[in-house]
Amino acid sequence: MSLDIQPPEEWIMSVVIREPEAGTSISAMPGTIDRSLLPSIANGSQAVVIRNVSKQFNKTKRRPLLRFRRQAGPAKPVKPVLALDDISLEVKRNEIYGILGANGSGKSTLIRVISTLLIPDTGNIKVFGYDVREDEMRVKRLINRVSVDASFFKKLSAMENLLYAVRLYGRSGSDLRGEITKILVDLGIKEDRVNAPLEQMSRGMQQKVAIARAFLTSPVLLLLDEPTTGLDPRSKKDVQSFVNDLRDNHDATIVICSHDMDEAEALCDRIAIMDGGKLIAVGTVDELKALVAERDGITNPSMEDVFIALTGRDLRDDEGDLEEDEKAA
Ligand SMILES: Nc1ncnc2c1ncn2[C@@H]1O[C@H](COP(=O)(O)OP(=O)(O)O)[C@@H](O)[C@H]1O
Ligand SMILES: [Mg+2]
Repeated sequence: MSLDIQPPEEWIMSVVIREPEAGTSISAMPGTIDRSLLPSIANGSQAVVIRNVSKQFNKTKRRPLLRFRRQAGPAKPVKPVLALDDISLEVKRNEIYGILGANGSGKSTLIRVISTLLIPDTGNIKVFGYDVREDEMRVKRLINRVSVDASFFKKLSAMENLLYAVRLYGRSGSDLRGEITKILVDLGIKEDRVNAPLEQMSRGMQQKVAIARAFLTSPVLLLLDEPTTGLDPRSKKDVQSFVNDLRDNHDATIVICSHDMDEAEALCDRIAIMDGGKLIAVGTVDELKALVAERDGITNPSMEDVFIALTGRDLRDDEGDLEEDEKAA
């Protein structure tokens, strides 16, 4: 079962959890995620395996006005974009795996193909051994999509939204409110805001409520698409420590897209660098730094140096790129 509220795909989070050991707090969470579907997988084995995946978009304007115009005149030629260009990678179970890339490099497309929202043109993807195409329903059951922007009832409070979500996921229990409050407070939301309408909360706080929801509905593979973009530094830290906690104490596997190099360095066990739909490099922070130090003779490179050396781009200049992208569309 999955939430019927369809979120936009801007900020997607998907979750899978290992079979809980008896007596852990997670075992008290029935959730929708059907853990019986999870093959027993040893730590360090592969949670996600992506093989030669490509995805091309034929760019069309999605604006109604232009659609109208197109009807009136001859159709403009579409410009194909290879959003994913022969991507292969593996995410190990219990890993925090970062996907670092400029806007438009294909990060969200990669998240969407892993979470079965998009079908790749070529290649295959397995999530805990299940093929995203052949076993789509199984993969979906292991996946939990969450969006900040559209899938909440904005007039309701964080508490009401989360109670709704967990009940929809079949959970009941005497202390759901206590559990929800604790998670929100752990994420840095003040207790007195828990019952305030969501529309009165900042985007950052709403983002945290989305993270809480993913967690409450029982995660194991968490796909985070830029969860901290636009958040203030304090909120970024809150989200990051929560992600760490999910991994350390709840055995989650996390794939996190970012264009924040400090975040990737602080949080990720391994980082995949993407550029123009291609995977440029994968490694631990130390491995990537060593690669660039050796190849380009840079002593003690920062992650920023690494990124610039490998892609020729400076992510600091990246904030306006979305609009560029729109223009090009
Ligand atoms: N639904 C779509 N239709 C057309 N083009 C798309 C679509 N989704 C993404 N793209 C294009 O694919 C490329 C990669 O986009 P995306 O995966 O969103 O990158 P990122 O998340 O790294 O910013 C961009 O050029 C983007 O414009
Ligand atoms: Mg994106």
